Amino acid sequence: MIILVGGEKGGSGKSCLAQNIAVYLRAERDATVLMVDCDPQRTTSDWIQERNNNKRDLPNINCVQLYGKIRNELLSLRNHYDFVVIDCGGQDNLALRSSMAVADNILIPLRPKRRDLKTVPHMEDLVSTCKMVNPKMNVAFVITQCPSLPSLASRIIEAKEVCRSFEIPVLNSVTFSRNMYDDSEELGLSVMENEPDGKAAWEIRSIVDELFARGRGETYDIRQFEEKIAVGQS
Ligand SMILES: Nc1ncnc2c1ncn2[C@@H]1O[C@H](COP(=O)(O)OP(=O)(O)OP(=O)(O)O)[C@@H](O)[C@H]1O
Ligand SMILES: [Mg+2]
Repeated sequence: MIILVGGEKGGSGKSCLAQNIAVYLRAERDATVLMVDCDPQRTTSDWIQERNNNKRDLPNINCVQLYGKIRNELLSLRNHYDFVVIDCGGQDNLALRSSMAVADNILIPLRPKRRDLKTVPHMEDLVSTCKMVNPKMNVAFVITQCPSLPSLASRIIEAKEVCRSFEIPVLNSVTFSRNMYDDSEELGLSVMENEPDGKAAWEIRSIVDELFARGRGETYDIRQFEEKIAVGQS
């Protein structure tokens, strides 16, 4: 299965999500996982290097860098791993389009901010073009780095409403802005390895489980995670 984390907005949390999803599948679902880094900034490749240098005995995740027209390479890699997780850099480029043409699952992270939400119409165009060659893709927006102040909760709801006014669904699961993400990244860890029962860890599990449930056409009850994620705390 190919999972693409992409979009054209810089800093929306694509690399962070891709890395955490890869560890979740590798460590908690015991799957074989390959990460594909399509970003010339090499964020994910550097994170893998940090991970390999970490003294803890972490589950091994391989990573390759691919750029440009990567469709055929992805199709061939898919045969060798349970999951191929792609981190696509923050722009509409060939790698993003060719990944969208073959991905089984696509997550497009957006912060609940005007500049991120402005990219929604273009993403919808791109997705509908790619759907012509990949009609079975399971695609969703996910709102990331949500403010935890209760007085700002309306921003999360508004961001979801903007997404819902377009053709692409938006996940109920979100990530809140938590230092745990940044702190884990620095050590080559996932949030699940840094604090297995922490709120960030449950956010990642919830995002992946909801995305997969959507792909199977099942409804997903986010309430199973609600207590663990408890809005408003970090
Ligand atoms: N939920 C979160 N809470 C707090 N910080 C976060 C969260 N998600 C991501 N970050 C931080 O935000 C920064 C940008 O995230 P990331 O590098 O994943 O974005 P990106 O979309 O891959 O950016 P680029 O477009 O440059 O590739 C990183 O420092 C990351 O640790
Ligand atoms: Mg990135």
